[in-house]
Amino acid sequence: MIIAIDGPAASGKGTLGKRLAQHYGYRHLDTGVIYRAVACALMQSGHDLRDEAAAVAAAMELDPATFGDPALKSQKAGEGASIVSAIPRVREVLVDFQRQFAANPPGAVLDGRDIGTVICPDADVKIFVVADPRVRAHRRTMEAKARGEAADEAVVLADILARDERDQNRPVAPLKPAADAYLLDNSRLDIEGGVRAAIDIIEAVRAGRPRG
Ligand code: DC
Repeated sequence: MIIAIDGPAASGKGTLGKRLAQHYGYRHLDTGVIYRAVACALMQSGHDLRDEAAAVAAAMELDPATFGDPALKSQKAGEGASIVSAIPRVREVLVDFQRQFAANPPGAVLDGRDIGTVICPDADVKIFVVADPRVRAHRRTMEAKARGEAADEAVVLADILARDERDQNRPVAPLKPAADAYLLDNSRLDIEGGVRAAIDIIEAVRAGRPRG
């Protein structure tokens, strides 16, 4: 079974993806990490984030061993990822890696922006996670502070809104719900509540009881 989770920055889809993978015994891929790794590789080698040739080369040399690097979690890496991910050739190069991950048994949970629309259009269950931008900014600020990073909530909110704008309006694979995705608004849900709501959706789909 393939579970596709999409949604905007800091909507909680990463945590949800991880928890669902644990629950079902599936593998989990946070696809944002891939674009963050490409952005960090460019920043480390001193290239401009809009340098297409360098970005494509970095995408081709992607090393999954770097996915655990804490530097990938930073605000700067996220902002950089939003820029490199708008380059169509970069996205193209990264499609196979994601599809192969999804295809390996016993099942997989992938979260990102275009999983239900482009990477796994035939996913068994698609969930589109949304949350109020102010709630997302608050959560991201708390996470950054917990990592010991300085974070100003107003700046984080501005970054989130800029990222939403860029991710939703790029010409290739923009952030949008697939026509057959289930919407999960977790503005007022804690982590456990979000996980329960997602499992309810998945179980209803598996039992052939499509929800409205
Ligand atoms: O989910 P995240 O914050 O780690 O993602 C960082 C950026 O990467 C996001 O702003 C857009 C891009 N991204 C993408 O274009 N497609 C994906 N499947 C995942 C992330």
